[in-house]
Amino acid sequence: MASPTNPLKDAGVPQHILSLLDRLHTASIEQESRLDITAFAPDQIHNAARDAFIALDQDKCHFVYQLARAMNAKNIIEAGTSFGVSTMYLGLAVSANVQASGGSGTVIATEHEPSKGEQARKYWAEGGEVVSKHIDLRVGDLLQTLKENIPTIDMLLLDIWAPMTLPALKVVQPHLRHGAVVIIDNTISSASRYKELLEYLRADHSGFTNLTIPYSNGLEMCVYTP
Ligand SMILES: C[S@@+](CC[C@H](N)C(=O)[O-])C[C@H]1O[C@@H](n2cnc3c(N)ncnc32)[C@H](O)[C@@H]1O
Repeated sequence: MASPTNPLKDAGVPQHILSLLDRLHTASIEQESRLDITAFAPDQIHNAARDAFIALDQDKCHFVYQLARAMNAKNIIEAGTSFGVSTMYLGLAVSANVQASGGSGTVIATEHEPSKGEQARKYWAEGGEVVSKHIDLRVGDLLQTLKENIPTIDMLLLDIWAPMTLPALKVVQPHLRHGAVVIIDNTISSASRYKELLEYLRADHSGFTNLTIPYSNGLEMCVYTP
């Protein structure tokens, strides 16, 4: 969904990147109008969505960008990259944060399907260095690719099939800094699919404080303060 405000535009992100993002969101929405992935059983989703974007909604991407800027997030993990749309926002935020306050930064992007990873790299190249230079794409099952070389993490975006969300969180949790933010998409519309994850996050003494933001289908923002 288009937003009346655009923090990327305010931050001076070049027009060709704004146009590329608009184009990719439009393509994703158009595809989703023909493919309802919630209709598939968990073991069918991989095949059904092999060629599909299923990008995070644009207004949610704007929120995630704005949040990453506010937190000065420099190390982010994205669980579920697909064709790399939300990754572009994370890459832009980390680039801007590194440029503003120095140091290094990485967006660890994870995608199971090699063909999707390849296409994501093409889109990032179209965006240019400001998008791509901090992205470390790891292709394969994230339970394997996130086993090593993980810095202290400021933010985790869980935008992946529901059964993978809790295992992904558990792999990343030891690397979360105090105050790290975990974002999870569709926690209202898919609450039953996320049952185990939400119970884990909302349990007494889980170490997380939780807030459901009323974007379309819900967006969970959890802060790790163990
Ligand atoms: C909802 S899409 C991600 C959309 C992306 N964040 C965006 O906004 O453009 C979820 C992706 O997670 C990937 N995926 C599913 N299971 C995975 C796993 N175990 N490891 C890595 N990627 C996985 C799927 O192939 C799919 O492309």
